[in-house]
Amino acid sequence: MTKTFFPTTRPSSAAVPVLDTRAIRAFHQSLPGYAVTPLYSCPLLAERLGVARVLVKDESKRLGLPSFKMLGASWATATAISREWLGFAANPESIAQLKRDLASTYGRTWRVGRRLVAATDGNHGRGVARMARLLRLRCQIFVPAGTAKSRIRSIEREGARVDVVNGTYDDAIARSAEEASATTLVVSDTSWDGYTETPTNVINGYSTMFSEIDDQMGLAQPNVVAFQAGVGAFAAAGMMHWANRRKPSDVTMLAIEPSTANCLMESARAGAITLVPGPHESTMAGLNCGLPSLIAWPMVEKFTDGYIAVTDDSTYAAMRLLAECGIVAGESGAAGLAGLLAVSDPDQRRHTGLTSDATVLVINTEGATDPLNYRRVTGETAKGVMRTQRRRQNRTHTITVNS
Ligand SMILES: Cc1ncc(COP(=O)(O)O)c(C=O)c1O
Repeated sequence: MTKTFFPTTRPSSAAVPVLDTRAIRAFHQSLPGYAVTPLYSCPLLAERLGVARVLVKDESKRLGLPSFKMLGASWATATAISREWLGFAANPESIAQLKRDLASTYGRTWRVGRRLVAATDGNHGRGVARMARLLRLRCQIFVPAGTAKSRIRSIEREGARVDVVNGTYDDAIARSAEEASATTLVVSDTSWDGYTETPTNVINGYSTMFSEIDDQMGLAQPNVVAFQAGVGAFAAAGMMHWANRRKPSDVTMLAIEPSTANCLMESARAGAITLVPGPHESTMAGLNCGLPSLIAWPMVEKFTDGYIAVTDDSTYAAMRLLAECGIVAGESGAAGLAGLLAVSDPDQRRHTGLTSDATVLVINTEGATDPLNYRRVTGETAKGVMRTQRRRQNRTHTITVNS
């Protein structure tokens, strides 16, 4: 039986790589549809968690897609193309410059035979497919068995070919890795022995979201942050961000996973990367991963104050609560809040930093990426929730945005 909550003790200090986040953000700003995503203050959630303030960074619309994943997919794709196909040591400045560099290096036929490949449980692959579309490259995406049809169709609509692998997300990753060649770039959000550079850039790409939060919060900082996790790349990015900005002990950082795919929690318990075998059948599709990312794990291990395992029913309750606040959150998107709700009872909350004066940050990492399930769970469509958003001003309001 999986324990719901596994508190850990962090080391007093740990080295964190420093990033040129401005260059990454400038690249993201060059992509069509870039806008700072909203940060909402939700009194209803603060009341439920018994804290002073709950802020929700809403990534349900990011660069024209319904999840934060395009931030990592775009930066990792652009840096991989720069490095592998152009032989540049410097980072790409903009998507337009990247296209110009490809054309001037290879002439008019630079696209012939070149393609992007990725494995995904939905959101990352859609981001890679969007990058392929922007660069007019061919694209092949591998998905695990059981991937919702709507998620497959969304990737196909980007112009990519989608192949269903008979197995888990981890099997799809292994299948995608076989495609690597001089003309095929594998853009994976997880890493393994000998394949770390591109997934490092996926993690680095997520930094734009965290620097936006810094701008939006000004001098204030969160006391508790909840990171929903699959392979741990998103959590690693966020944890590095706050570890760089504050004394790591100033902010409680929690990792939330499905109880049936809690590979970070099991790795922490074992003291080494540990596989949680499939099938992984949670509807939190983005979090259905059996193995932590090799490069994310050391950061997650260092900075996580507690691992929380949640069920589908608890993320559904969080989806409904967010919908009441006028925020459209899919199954994986609501999991961070679900984790906090799971440990908000008097006994557990003392380990989690959920005190009555705390500012808590939740990140809604995706919108309704499976619209049928979204409607079944919340009783509303995403559009319906957004329509009522304006009437819910007493519950949710946007906080200061400086950029
Ligand atoms: C919506 C959503 N949230 C969170 C995550 C977790 O990210 P990671 O796999 O880096 O832990 C994912 C991963 O696909 C996701 O799709």
